[in-house]
Amino acid sequence: MSKTFFEAVKGRRSIYAISKESPISDEQIQKIVEEAVLHSPTSFNSQSSRAVVLLGEQHDKLWDITAETLRKIVPTEQFEGTAQKLSSFKAGYGTVLFYEDQAVVKHLQENFALYAENFPIWSNQSSGILQYVVWTAFAEEGLGASLQHYNPLIDDEVKETFGIAADWKLIAQMPFGNILTPPGEKEFQPIEERVKVIK
Ligand SMILES: Cc1cc2nc3c(=O)[nH]c(=O)nc-3n(C[C@H](O)[C@H](O)[C@H](O)COP(=O)(O)O)c2cc1C
Repeated sequence: MSKTFFEAVKGRRSIYAISKESPISDEQIQKIVEEAVLHSPTSFNSQSSRAVVLLGEQHDKLWDITAETLRKIVPTEQFEGTAQKLSSFKAGYGTVLFYEDQAVVKHLQENFALYAENFPIWSNQSSGILQYVVWTAFAEEGLGASLQHYNPLIDDEVKETFGIAADWKLIAQMPFGNILTPPGEKEFQPIEERVKVIK
């Protein structure tokens, strides 16, 4: 077991208090996301995962769109809490949008009918793996990030605003930035109840 690998695994946490600075350059951020997209596995090596990195004003725009969308549907008395949460994401340096290309999924379903029902599931799982790789790689560089799901509410406007391909389905949003407050202690359920070794 590689010690360094598990140090990285343990070092990744959900970080909600983030700022508009980054310990690494935009080029390094781009490189991390590119490497993660290239080397994360996908079912049938279909390479269905897509990522969009929003920085600066484009990042701000995403969280403004999210706030305006939610303002229309969240009851007024609850919106203050939602608005605060969204502001904390907007306070970050950037956001990675994780997509899965549905044209790829459809193609697989047509070509391998036996597994047709599984391809959307495997596509989601592939996206989860990619999200995890980016999240952990960011943490290794000192970038704090969290995982958010305002899809499908924001999908249409985000697609239009950022010129996203029609076939790309939004799966998750990952706001990131310098860490303002480290995460608290995490509680763990007994590992003996969660892992069984049978021999
Ligand atoms: C599939 C998945 C979906 C998640 N969705 C959200 C989310 O919508 N909003 C959020 O704040 N955190 C979300 N999280 C983060 C979890 O709440 C978090 O990982 C968990 O509480 C453990 O904390 P840690 O990330 O600090 O280890 C999600 C995590 C996973 C794996």
